[in-house]
Amino acid sequence: MLKKWSAAVLAGALAVGALAGCGGGDDAGSGDSGGGGGKITMGFSQVGAESGWRTANTKSIQESAATAGIDLKFSDAQGKQENQIKAIRSFIAQRVDVIAFSPVVESGWDTVLKEAKDANIPVILTDRSVDSQDKTLYKSFIGSDFVLEGKKAGEWLVKEYEGKPEPVNIVELQGSPGAAPANDRKAGFAEVIKADPKFKVIASQTGQFTRTDGKEVMEAFLKAHQDIDVLYAHNDDMGLGAIEAIEAAGKKPGTDIKIITVDAVKDGMTALAAGKINYIVECSPLLGPQLMDLAKKVKAGETVEQRVVTEETTFTQEQAKAALPDRKY
Ligand code: AHR
Repeated sequence: MLKKWSAAVLAGALAVGALAGCGGGDDAGSGDSGGGGGKITMGFSQVGAESGWRTANTKSIQESAATAGIDLKFSDAQGKQENQIKAIRSFIAQRVDVIAFSPVVESGWDTVLKEAKDANIPVILTDRSVDSQDKTLYKSFIGSDFVLEGKKAGEWLVKEYEGKPEPVNIVELQGSPGAAPANDRKAGFAEVIKADPKFKVIASQTGQFTRTDGKEVMEAFLKAHQDIDVLYAHNDDMGLGAIEAIEAAGKKPGTDIKIITVDAVKDGMTALAAGKINYIVECSPLLGPQLMDLAKKVKAGETVEQRVVTEETTFTQEQAKAALPDRKY
């Protein structure tokens, strides 16, 4: 049995080693043994590089690890769950002290999380959670409340159209299928707008959290529907791609079509301040410092909170103008 398990872990390590060869800066398969010399070794599996948010999140994690004196083994999953599973198995094989990852999708983690638990390697979830029923499979989850973010987007819309009786036609650009922020932002928004039947989601499709897909899907929405009042995009990048499509169709983003997005990265805030987006719900990517603190506590055997919720705000166009000069990402 033990032999079988070790073989699976080794195979995972080799596979990630191969992956590391084609993705810059990926050292999940370096083969170093973790935990030596008193320095904490963390294996971190990132979703990919799909958005401005993700780039800022990666920077925060890498910089915070360096500041905290934590040896970070960083692996980019390029948006694929199978790559994350290989990376986690590689981290187990390398005997890192802590594994952290931001799950590409919510489901399908129990087996690999159990392998980490059996190997006595604590796991911390960052940014996104998993739908595992067994909460002992990970020590903590640090990240946003995505349902709340969707609700905030819906609440702004309800207020904006208060007292206006005519139907409001909404198109929705969803995040990548199966990802917690896509599922939850959709659910939170739907929960709020369902109170008034004048709000109609006339089209809803994934834009994969990327600018390119956001633009392409918005082009298709515009061709299929002449009467779009509102775009709700699950992140800034898709919203920014959609703005290009709207302008190319001869319409004015922010005026002809009102736009709500989530994240509040610099490019999104710039478009908001310029009047091309109407409202942004913040999702903070700066999770690095808290993650490193948690890792130190977990390694020291301290009890940590099972859930750490990131503090966030919202931005109107005026608030974006005021916040932009100091925006760090
Ligand atoms: O999980 C966080 C989400 O993932 C961000 O809102 C989005 O931009 C990113 O790709």
